[in-house]
Amino acid sequence: MRTSLRGRALGAVLGLALLGGACVPPAPHPVPTDVPVAKRRFPDATLESLADGRARYVSKCGGCHQLYEPERHAPDAWPRTLDSMSARAKLTEEDRARIEQYLVTLARR
Ligand code: HEC
Repeated sequence: MRTSLRGRALGAVLGLALLGGACVPPAPHPVPTDVPVAKRRFPDATLESLADGRARYVSKCGGCHQLYEPERHAPDAWPRTLDSMSARAKLTEEDRARIEQYLVTLARR
């Protein structure tokens, strides 16, 4: 019993590791080359603000469904999606602004 539980746990860990290696992460981390792209639309954007947007996206938007990749929507489509999702996710103004900055910017990659 103990062994099989451990075996299953190990299998799950290995499976996750394989999935992680094979798939594009749903919420890619922002990198320095994203910053100038972000600044075109959000002049006060920094690498920190983009990373904060990603953290908020992961914590506020992944509860009801899987996280959607930023590239799934055109940059201009995200604000409209956020209009409908921000009430559901109970976003504060700041959450919304940061998440929008992150999604719109990474959708341009
Ligand atoms: C309380 C649950 C809930 C939370 C929290 C939530 N969603 Fe959703 N989301 C849904 C449901 C239900 C659907 C599918 C039905 C629909 O589209 O109305 C959906 C659909 C979507 C879709 C696919 C539809 C489309 O327009 O492509 C996207 C993208 C999306 N959500 C993004 C987000 C983002 C970004 C956040 C965080 C701000 C978020 N969701 C938070 C419930 C939620």
